[in-house]
Amino acid sequence: MRAAGKGRFRHPPDPVAEKFGRSVHFDRRLARHDLEGSRAHAAVLVKAGILSRKEAAAIRKGLDRIEKEIAQGKFRWKESLEDVHMNIEAALTARVPAGAKLHTGRSRNDQVATDLRLWLRETIQGDLAGMTALQKALVGVGQKYREVILPGYTHLQRGQPVLLAHHWLAYVEMLERDKGRLKDAARRAEVLPLGAGALAGSTLKLDRNVARKLLRFRELSANSMDAVSDRDFLVEYLAAVALGGVHLSRLAEDLILFSSAEFAFLKFGEAFTTGSSLMPQKRNPDMAELVRGKSGRLTGHLVSLLTVLKGLPLTYNRDLQEDKEAVFDAADTWRNSLEVMARAIASIEVDAGACLYAASAPELLATDVAEALVREGLPFRKAHQAVGAAVRKAEEKGTRIDRLEEKDWEGISERQWMAVSGVLQAHSPAARLRKALQNRQAVVGAPSPSLVEGELRRWAKVLR
Ligand code: ARG
Repeated sequence: MRAAGKGRFRHPPDPVAEKFGRSVHFDRRLARHDLEGSRAHAAVLVKAGILSRKEAAAIRKGLDRIEKEIAQGKFRWKESLEDVHMNIEAALTARVPAGAKLHTGRSRNDQVATDLRLWLRETIQGDLAGMTALQKALVGVGQKYREVILPGYTHLQRGQPVLLAHHWLAYVEMLERDKGRLKDAARRAEVLPLGAGALAGSTLKLDRNVARKLLRFRELSANSMDAVSDRDFLVEYLAAVALGGVHLSRLAEDLILFSSAEFAFLKFGEAFTTGSSLMPQKRNPDMAELVRGKSGRLTGHLVSLLTVLKGLPLTYNRDLQEDKEAVFDAADTWRNSLEVMARAIASIEVDAGACLYAASAPELLATDVAEALVREGLPFRKAHQAVGAAVRKAEEKGTRIDRLEEKDWEGISERQWMAVSGVLQAHSPAARLRKALQNRQAVVGAPSPSLVEGELRRWAKVLR
C-alpha cells in the first residue's frame, strides 16, 4: 500500500517494487513505541481542536486493543501495508472511524524518528543492566581468585607480575566507560521530533509540548528539517556498542589464550565449551570465539549506517529505512554477547599454580631490581643497563638472575647489591612476587594487593 492511499496514483505499484520497499517484517519491532507516540499525538490533536475528547478516547482504546493483540501474537500484520506505521493506522481506522484523523499534522518521517528514539531509550536501559551484570561477574571472579598472581604481558611477552583480579578489573573499567558513552547517547537522544511533520511542521496549532511531556522527552527538536533527517542518535549508539564489542572481543581473546594448553591458566565451565566432531579430546572455547567474532558485526553496522547517511540530501530519504536492521541486529548482538560472556566468566576455574609458575621467572622482576638500584642512587638509565647486563650474564651462564653472585653484577656497590638481593632473594617465588606487588602500594592504580582489594570492594559497592 502507498502511504497516501490511492489518491495520487492511477495504478498499483509494481509487485517487485512493493516487496522491495517493505519493512514491516523488521520494523514491527517498533510497534509499542509507535503506539505510545500515537497516544501522545492524539493528545496534541485534542488540544488543537482536531479530535474531540470522545474521539481521542476511542482512538486510545483502539490503540490499547492493538497493543494487546500484538503482545499476544494475535495481530494480523499485513506485508502489503509496507511498514509498522501503516499497519497500525490501518488496523485502527478499520475499528475506530476517528482513526482516520490520527495522522493529521504528522508524517511517518517524524513518527519513525520518534519511535526510534523511544526504542533507543528502552534499549539502552536494558544494555546498561546487561553491562552491569558482566561487570559483576568480573568482580566476582576477581574476589574468588583474589590471591592469584600471573604475568602481565606487553607484546604478548611476559612483562611484570600482576594480580589476576587487576586483569579482570581492567575490563570492568572499560565497560564503565562504555556505559558512560551509552548514557551520554541516551541523554542526547531525549529530543522529540514529533511535530516536525514531513519536514516543515504544520499549519495547524500543534502544541508539541503536550507530546513531549507525555513521552518524557527533555526537549523539542528546534529544527523540523533536522528532526526528520537526523540519525546521529543511532550512530552514537552503534559507535558505543561497536567499541563495547571491541572490548568484549579483547576479553574473549585473553580468555581463549589463557585457556589454551600453552597458557593453561584457566578453564571455562564445560557448559560454555564444545567438543569437536572429529577430535574426541577437544574442549573448545566457542562462546568466547563467537563473542570475538560477533564484534565484527557491531563494527560493520556502525560503518553501514555512516555509509547510508553520507551524501543524503536534506531531509528524509527512503535510504533511512536502512537504519533499522543495523541497529536492531547490533542491539541483539550486543545484548546476547554481554549475557553469554557474564555467564561464561562466572563459570571460569583458575589454576592458581599454573599462573604462579608462569609469573615466577625472576626476570619478571628486572624492572623492580632496576628501581631498587634507583633507590640506592643510581640514575635509571644506568640501573636499566646494569640489570640488562645481569640478565645477559645469567643467560650466558645458563642460569637465572636470582642465582647470580655479587661478582656477576659488574660495577655495583655493596649496598646496591644488597638492594638487588632484597628484590630477588626469597624463600619461595610466591613470597618474592607478593613482596614485589606489596611494594607497589604508593602508586594509585597499581596492582598491589591492598589497592586491588580496595578496588574490588569499591566496584562491588558501585555495582550493587
Ligand atoms: N518505513 C519508513 C522508514 O523507516 C517510514 C518512513 C516512511 N516515510 C516516507 N516518506 N516514505 O524510514
